[in-house]
Amino acid sequence: MKVGIDLIHFATSDYFLGLDTFASQKNIDVEKFTIGIGQEKMSIAPPDEDVVTLAAKAAKAILDQVDPQKITAVLFATESGVDQSKSAGAFLHGLLNLPKRCRVIELKHACYAGAAALQMATALVKSNVKEKILVIAADIAKYDVDSSGEATQGCGAVAMLVKDSPRILALESGSGYYTDDVMDFWRPNHRETALVDGKYSTMVYLNSLKHAWTHFNEETGRTFQDIDYFCYHIPFTKMAEKAHKTLIKKTKSEVSDAQFEEQLSYGQSYNRIVGNSYSASLFIGFCSLLDFAKQNLVNKRVSFFSYGSGCVAEFFSGVIQPEYQSVLMTASHQQQILQRQALSYAEYLNFYHGSDLSQENCILPEHNRGSFRLAAIEEHKRIYIAR
Ligand code: HMG
Repeated sequence: MKVGIDLIHFATSDYFLGLDTFASQKNIDVEKFTIGIGQEKMSIAPPDEDVVTLAAKAAKAILDQVDPQKITAVLFATESGVDQSKSAGAFLHGLLNLPKRCRVIELKHACYAGAAALQMATALVKSNVKEKILVIAADIAKYDVDSSGEATQGCGAVAMLVKDSPRILALESGSGYYTDDVMDFWRPNHRETALVDGKYSTMVYLNSLKHAWTHFNEETGRTFQDIDYFCYHIPFTKMAEKAHKTLIKKTKSEVSDAQFEEQLSYGQSYNRIVGNSYSASLFIGFCSLLDFAKQNLVNKRVSFFSYGSGCVAEFFSGVIQPEYQSVLMTASHQQQILQRQALSYAEYLNFYHGSDLSQENCILPEHNRGSFRLAAIEEHKRIYIAR
């Protein structure tokens, strides 16, 4: 039985900060960002946008095409959760009127949890073909102002319908994984922003890739040459390029510049202008490959490298299915990107400091133009509205 991604759709916020604006504010050569880390824009969430509203925006387009009453589980991956106890998926379940006969859970391990949710959903469907699972990966990447990570912020959510006979990607059995207890990036419970040892985090990412690849290769027997397109976790696009070079070296592969470009670049277009979206980033990269590839991808093998700081990594693969082009939501992705509004640095700071959500009561100013927004906090309860 084939199991995997039947539909995929991503959402981002209505606002962005250009790295040109950022560079001139900080008096830094813009090429440090456009060339050095390979980023142009960061999606910025206003205070009335959070992972629940982003996830709802991402999932709605899928639920418009399938009967929501048939969804059997929501696996919600995030590292920017909104409550220490109640899962973000439970808020989402209410906003989207999902059936009561449904299981909901939140998964966390930094940027890795989206891949974990996808693997778990696949296993659930393999054990019961009736399962139709909504996998969500949603995050808002937020670092301290003037920290090394500030230029690598962003936000986004991906929704995937995982079922049997998938129309986009059939996941293949066998994967390679790796865990190590390290402190490269973390966010203690009392902090809204992440702490990071930036240079160290890039080293740990690449080291994890080598280990996860070795395990993948041993488990599946697949080699570098068996893979047509490579999707990596993309905190910034230059990181994926470093990853691909590392894998080429590790596997002693011969790859021309044109092949390198073909294997990697389609999967980077959205991420370059959305920024880091943590758990969603790998799958926004996959949407980018699907939407921008010039060749027909049918029967092509795509690999996925998920890296979550702290750290857990996994390398796995899937095969693109014959009907994939007929179910892509490219127009919706591009429309969202096109309608984003540019922020000045001062406006970005205004959103950044936003409203104090730790208050017992507050009403949030209306900036989020999407179908779902966080409207208020009432007696410490989040009040969402759909419109
Ligand atoms: P930095 O100190 O701002 O930048 O840190 P830099 O001085 O290292 O420069 C970056 C690159 O730009 C360098 O190239 C420079 O040479 C180049 P490289 O040596 O890397 O090839 N450069 C220029 N190029 C052209 N023209 C110029 C110019 N100036 C410099 N004028 C750092 C960079 C990545 C550390 C920083 O952005 C950071 O701390 N980011 C956050 C952490 C991060 O994204 N880590 C990635 C791996 S960990 C991960 O992916 C997990 C994560 O997503 C979280 C999770 O799992 O939950 C973060």
